[in-house]
Amino acid sequence: MKLVFATNNLNKLREVQALVPHQIKLLSLADIGCEEDIPETSQTIEGNAKQKARYIKEHYGYNCFADDTGLEVEALDGAPGVYSARYAGKAKDANANMDKLLKELAGIENRNAQFKTVIALVLDDTLETFTGICKGSITPDKKGEGGFGYDPVFLPKGYTKTFAELLLSEKNKIGHRGKAMDLLLKFLNR
Ligand code: IMP
Repeated sequence: MKLVFATNNLNKLREVQALVPHQIKLLSLADIGCEEDIPETSQTIEGNAKQKARYIKEHYGYNCFADDTGLEVEALDGAPGVYSARYAGKAKDANANMDKLLKELAGIENRNAQFKTVIALVLDDTLETFTGICKGSITPDKKGEGGFGYDPVFLPKGYTKTFAELLLSEKNKIGHRGKAMDLLLKFLNR
């Protein structure tokens, strides 16, 4: 089976590639000649995931799945959430996003947060969604060199290392995207 993973984010692609069994041939956007920015105009994580997956099916004809992810911080009423990528501005700069988050949380005791990933799968004429959540907290400082995005400031619950300090395989086992992928793969195997 051929499936497109609709992302331009090479870090997401690397994580997902490590989870997909060889029976599924995973195609990237580059593989199908898609170089455009796929619209993401929904107000919800689920809405954006669906929009991206549908777009590829409609414009390129491939069965496809897309991931949209947000970091939800309890003390900030769930922000940055669906606006995580552009939290500190249009540049989508990960360091600037983390700096803004650490500033917003300065002096705040409640550091609880969660990552939420929704994966939308368009398979022929059906659309399914799969949600993965990873609970944890925001560290006082950035730690670690691995991962991407907010990984250096996210400490998964029960761990003493941030996502950026864990191996990709460890992050995949407990992480939001890994959990959503697990549900997607179970669905495909049903
Ligand atoms: P999007 O799903 O690509 O729109 O990502 C939204 C924001 O969350 C971006 O700033 C990403 O860098 C960040 N992000 C997405 N997935 C992860 C992750 O697994 N770890 C850390 N940050 C992430």
